[in-house]
Amino acid sequence: MIQLSGQHTPFWMSSTSEGQFRPLTHNVFVDVAIVGGGIAGLTAAFLLKRAGKKVAVIEAEAIASKASGRTTAKITSLHQLVYAELIEKYGEAKARIYAESNQAALEQIVSLIKEEKIDCDFSRQDAYTFAESADNLDKIKAEAEAAIALGLPASFVDKTPLPFGVAGAVKFTDQAQFHIRKYLVALAEKIDGNGSYVFELSRVTSVESDEPCVVKAENGTVKAQDVIVTTNLPITDEGLFFAKTSPKRSYIVAAKIDQDKAPDGMFIGCGDSYRSIRTAPDGDDLLLLIGGEGHQVGDVTETEERYLALEEYGHEQFGIETYDYRWSGQDLKSRDGLPYIGNLTDEDEHIFIATGFSLWGVTNGTLAGMLLCDRLVGKENPWAELYDATRPVSFLDEEKKRKELFGDDDSADDADGDSNDKSIKINSSHLKEVGNGEGKVLSIDDEKVAIYRDENGKAMAMSAVCPHLGCTVNWNSAEKSWDCPCHGGRYDSKGAVINAPAVKDLKVLDCASS
Ligand code: FES
Repeated sequence: MIQLSGQHTPFWMSSTSEGQFRPLTHNVFVDVAIVGGGIAGLTAAFLLKRAGKKVAVIEAEAIASKASGRTTAKITSLHQLVYAELIEKYGEAKARIYAESNQAALEQIVSLIKEEKIDCDFSRQDAYTFAESADNLDKIKAEAEAAIALGLPASFVDKTPLPFGVAGAVKFTDQAQFHIRKYLVALAEKIDGNGSYVFELSRVTSVESDEPCVVKAENGTVKAQDVIVTTNLPITDEGLFFAKTSPKRSYIVAAKIDQDKAPDGMFIGCGDSYRSIRTAPDGDDLLLLIGGEGHQVGDVTETEERYLALEEYGHEQFGIETYDYRWSGQDLKSRDGLPYIGNLTDEDEHIFIATGFSLWGVTNGTLAGMLLCDRLVGKENPWAELYDATRPVSFLDEEKKRKELFGDDDSADDADGDSNDKSIKINSSHLKEVGNGEGKVLSIDDEKVAIYRDENGKAMAMSAVCPHLGCTVNWNSAEKSWDCPCHGGRYDSKGAVINAPAVKDLKVLDCASS
């Protein structure tokens, strides 16, 4: 087994405290319920409260601990390579809206930090997308040209502050970075109180559109005129966003670096093998964060190798020997390259969603909060049409491709994991196939069974059928989780749900003693 260094926790989490907010244990009435306490939900909640609404944020775990607490936390409208493609696909006017809305989100964060005096290690930085070889140089030049045409603070450069040479880079000036969880916890503290609420450790199990809407969590209910669902992928299936997005996992390692060796700025490479690089203050020290190694959720089992590849890159390019932190995160790529923000469906006037931020959730999530706040206070927003969540998006080809890859045994009939499980005979010889600290999916009596054995040798069996829509989960060895390749639902080693769209745990099965 590969031994990795450092704490297996996001730096943003380990450097802030958790548990500031109580769980929902009673019934509450507000104007707007917000399901999901990440950057989109908390920004919407903060702006709505400031506009005079009573709000309640309901988060399944700790606020800002999922996608938002696992990002590189760059505040930038430079989104690797996006603008040349947006112009080609949608024309200059629409690409300009994407550019302007992301720049506006950057400035919204800056003004909230200033106005609310939020201490969150904020600093202005230049941002770069770089090509290490001449292979991607044309794309870099095209991106610089497109970004300049859209009025962004962009230029083409052939040198960067990185300690290695590049063939060329797009540079955006006056972008920024921060400690995202310090920022979001501060926003949450300002939301909670005076008739508004932030609830943690409260998993929402259903959202019913009515007058008022009803949001049910395990131990309480929120009634509200409107509901915003910002659970990375909406837990509400009606808009088919699970099919209009594609779930990606990516990895980050962080290590102390001497100030004189640290590059000044924020960086991202090109293509699928990109590396994302930035620094972050850690008390008197400075950390270097290196991200990348993304893949489709559930497609890779030996995920330790992903961390190892990042560690090797840090060693080669920056001379790093040991790492302090490692973590992974999950994002949703939108099928058409644009976030979905707005009504859940054409028919529903009271439920809104925001998803599909395509790995750029800091600004896309912030602009989602701004746009949804405008919608709910009746203010026209010039970005609303571009991001309209009910726009037609072709996804049938992608679903067909996934069926070809993962087989056709994914049946929605089995989605509750109940199918025939009582007749599955799991015995000690099955359990012996799984080593300590490992998980494996076995076929037993024609059923897929997920078996996990903990470090002390105690084994347990669960149905490997994802309760969302019935795909088969796969083991993720570095994160010790069961990951669903279809829509990115995830479960911990013992089957407890950790990622939407799933809201139910894997079904635990009886088995013989281990
Ligand atoms: Fe949708 Fe598993 S089937 S997340």
